[in-house]
Amino acid sequence: MKKIILDLDTGIDDALAIAYVLGSPDAELVGITGTYGNVLLEQGVRNSLALTELLGHPEVPVFAGLPHAMGRDGFAVSESTALIHGANGIGNVVIPDAERPVQDQPAVDFIIEAAHRYGDELAYVPTGAPTNLAAALRRDPSLKDRLHVVLMGGALTVPGNVNAWTEANIDQDPEAANEVFRSGVDATMVGLDVTHQTVLTRRALDEWRQIDTPAARAYVAMVGHYIGAYEKNAPYLGGCGLHDPLAAAVAIDPTLVGCLPINMKVECEGPTRGRTIGDERLINVAPKTTRVALTVDAPRFLREFMQRVGAALATAR
Ligand code: BDR
Ligand code: CA
Repeated sequence: MKKIILDLDTGIDDALAIAYVLGSPDAELVGITGTYGNVLLEQGVRNSLALTELLGHPEVPVFAGLPHAMGRDGFAVSESTALIHGANGIGNVVIPDAERPVQDQPAVDFIIEAAHRYGDELAYVPTGAPTNLAAALRRDPSLKDRLHVVLMGGALTVPGNVNAWTEANIDQDPEAANEVFRSGVDATMVGLDVTHQTVLTRRALDEWRQIDTPAARAYVAMVGHYIGAYEKNAPYLGGCGLHDPLAAAVAIDPTLVGCLPINMKVECEGPTRGRTIGDERLINVAPKTTRVALTVDAPRFLREFMQRVGAALATAR
């Protein structure tokens, strides 16, 4: 049983990652930590609380993380992001507010405590700006030898989705991402190299229309919105990229992807700021602490995805 912490900027594919983990018999969602990106921190935390209750899991604790990059004063959602995920992050679909509040403990403290408590049983899965993880590593450098990270972010062999070289999560805080890679923490990078190979089509979405729960109806509407955005922005994909659920799936079952071991860095200066690339200074240095996912068993992942998310939606209230 893998223990999972999801670190989310709870937009639509983050919502799918929550459902994926909750629908996985071989995983336990021990907590959600909030970050920013698709939405402001507060909105993401609100969505995580509300979605876990909609899915019938009020026991999952939700922690608020840092609201913006360390080197910045604040954060604003970009116009294009607000179109992709909707103004409320979940495709403008209205779901009830949660009854329970956010935890008092700050997310960074929870991450550190969980890393010490669970050790190798735990996978920590950032799928938004990696600011909380960089802060945790800074606060407790021993995390580098005890935390296993599976992050959604970056692009090594394909162009970015913000510009030709930058992926959205890394773009929010390149310095934090660079700190994470260069810290030597054990990390698997699940970037656009593989997440654009795992696409949900409108036809597949229709399967969930048969499930008669409020959660299924909300998810069908949300994901319909998300696919609509992809039809405008990246019609050649034929559906929406399953970024965050793929990272969650790899955290539970690493055999879904084939990886290149490499020491990575993020460029923080100049025109290619935000680019994820091998670190030339560490190219011949062992150990190679990051594995970049370059191949994925897309048919097997998509089968697992439909089954696990479908199970979470069907057992929801
Ligand atoms: C990533 O950026 C966010 O918009 C998505 O939720 C995903 O985590 C894709 O680049
Ligand atoms: Ca995300």
